[in-house]
Amino acid sequence: MRIVLVGPPGAGKGTQAQFIASHLSIPKISTGDIFRANVSGGTELGQQAKAYMDRGDLVPDEVTIAMVRDRLAEDDAREGFLLDGFPRNVPQAETLKKILSEWDAKLDLVLELVVDEDEVVRRLSGRRTCSQCGHIWHVMFDDKRDDICDDCGGQLFQRDDDKEETIRHRLEVYQEQTAPLVAFYADEGMLVGIDATGPVEEVTERALAALRPLA
Ligand code: AP5
Ligand code: ZN
Repeated sequence: MRIVLVGPPGAGKGTQAQFIASHLSIPKISTGDIFRANVSGGTELGQQAKAYMDRGDLVPDEVTIAMVRDRLAEDDAREGFLLDGFPRNVPQAETLKKILSEWDAKLDLVLELVVDEDEVVRRLSGRRTCSQCGHIWHVMFDDKRDDICDDCGGQLFQRDDDKEETIRHRLEVYQEQTAPLVAFYADEGMLVGIDATGPVEEVTERALAALRPLA
């Protein structure tokens, strides 16, 4: 199955991606995670991406697309994948379509996580990520009183782009550049939107129900 997750920053894409991908036994490909790993590893790609990410702007398409093309060509993505954070604008979506058509493949579904702006700000300001296993936590909703991951004992950190000012800018970028993507996929007949509010497990249930007709 080839699935794209779309939704504003903090909608819960990363949170849901980890459950959906493991449920369907397909790799989760998160462009944000790949960029962050490159930034902390000090690679050339990380150096190219860092300034854009710190400001909350999109990394230029040529950099992002080259990275995704390489990742999709890996063996584990051949039968299916869950994309989290890509595509992020219409040109990226058109390129993805072209890449897949070169392999006689196409997307099965684009799942939109629908959540309002107040909830997004609440979620992002309390987000903590495990530096070891990548699990995403929330200080309030997961009742985290320490900075230690309950899954693996790793140290939790707060993302640099989760400052209030940067969150607001990321939301503007979403409205300007990513919201038109939702219309693009609706026109292609591929979009299914689900309510992404409420407990994480309930959102996962809604997501899996939306995917069930494809199984
Ligand atoms: P990226 O990492 O993709 O960030 P984003 O899209 O802004 O999304 P987030 O990761 O912030 O949110 P999320 O929806 O995954 O929410 P999460 O599950 O963590 O991109 C970062 C940067 O990289 C971009 O700004 C850009 O510079 C660059 N980039 C990436 N892709 C690119 C591309 N294609 N092109 C160009 N540049 C690109 O949840 C948030 C919090 O809420 C967590 O604490 C979680 O525990 C909590 N939560 C989740 N669900 C619930 C729930 N149901 N109830 C209560 N709390 C919940
Ligand atoms: Zn962990």
